[in-house]
Amino acid sequence: MTDPPISQRKLDHLRVSLEEDVQAKGINAGFEQYSFVHNALPEMDLCGVDTSVVALGKTLRAPLLISSMTGGTDLAWAINRNLAQAAQSLGVGLALGSERAAIEHPSLAFTYRVRDVAPDILLLANLGAVQLNNGFDLEECLKAVKNMEADALVLHLNPLQECLQDGGNTNFKGLLAKIASLASRLPVPVLVKEVGWGISRLVAQKLFEAGVQGVETAGAGGTSWSEVEKHLAKGEDRRTIAEDFASWGIPTAQSIVECRKASPGALVIGSGGIRTGIEAAKAIALGADLVGVGRPLLRPATVSPVAVQDRIQRLLDELGIAMFCVGASNLAQLHKAEIRGPQ
Ligand SMILES: Cc1cc2nc3c(=O)[nH]c(=O)nc-3n(C[C@H](O)[C@H](O)[C@H](O)COP(=O)(O)O)c2cc1C
Repeated sequence: MTDPPISQRKLDHLRVSLEEDVQAKGINAGFEQYSFVHNALPEMDLCGVDTSVVALGKTLRAPLLISSMTGGTDLAWAINRNLAQAAQSLGVGLALGSERAAIEHPSLAFTYRVRDVAPDILLLANLGAVQLNNGFDLEECLKAVKNMEADALVLHLNPLQECLQDGGNTNFKGLLAKIASLASRLPVPVLVKEVGWGISRLVAQKLFEAGVQGVETAGAGGTSWSEVEKHLAKGEDRRTIAEDFASWGIPTAQSIVECRKASPGALVIGSGGIRTGIEAAKAIALGADLVGVGRPLLRPATVSPVAVQDRIQRLLDELGIAMFCVGASNLAQLHKAEIRGPQ
């Protein structure tokens, strides 16, 4: 049996993300514009730094979520299991890639099942919000959540990607009302994320008012889906259009500040271009509850759970050191740490 086209697209995304330069161009995540006030007298022991946090009812040992990436192929299945085992060992959260492939082709559902190796983690399912305009409703979303035994459903908003993708779904009319309706009926929390161009204060406000419990910024400055689509574009014109959007979007640092302003209490996951523990610390000081990391974990996830674990551990070690050097012994104190930004 030949693989369905959606599996081929997932494979293309993995190949391009692993082999090509898909970093945003001409725009940064924005953390370089912020610096902590160094504390030369932290009056604490590095060993006493506590990075634990409760999110969506689960306790995480560190405020980290592996961002939604893949599923729907044998390679994706292996990647997902390596990510899941690493997340279980480290006590961090994991979101998997869009489950549309599994809903449309039940034979692919196994590629998203990781609970057997990650029984305790915060585990998030993912679907494109635009699918709510293409026949998906409560039933499909419930299937996605149940198949993964997920704790919540993340809907991704990707209008620019859909414009640049061959045959993309570009009708985003009426989605907010459909997201609100879903959030009121689904028995698990609904979160919303971007895929690399950020969420503004106004959009976050509308989403929170619609009953969405959290947003993941997926801001600009990290992996760029216009760059990914550039490598898959059919024809020179489509390629040029994609290339022209390389610097599009709301930088991650700004998106975090805006999403936090939209609601003091909602869950805000800062992501998009977070590569170091120092950037993770800044994201939290700017208002994020958790930070999300995507593509840096992809290559290690093709190798082994330990390779993923090592990459995450380096980031967490740095986060701990940054907390120590601002005198924050826990995340509540890091939220209040003095950070100087653009005037
Ligand atoms: C190979 C790959 C596949 C992705 N697939 C999805 C997806 O299915 N759903 C989604 O919401 N985001 C998807 N993303 C976007 C990531 O979740 C993340 O928002 C983005 O890569 C920015 O984070 P980063 O700069 O740390 O990579 C994908 C990213 C990569 C690299």
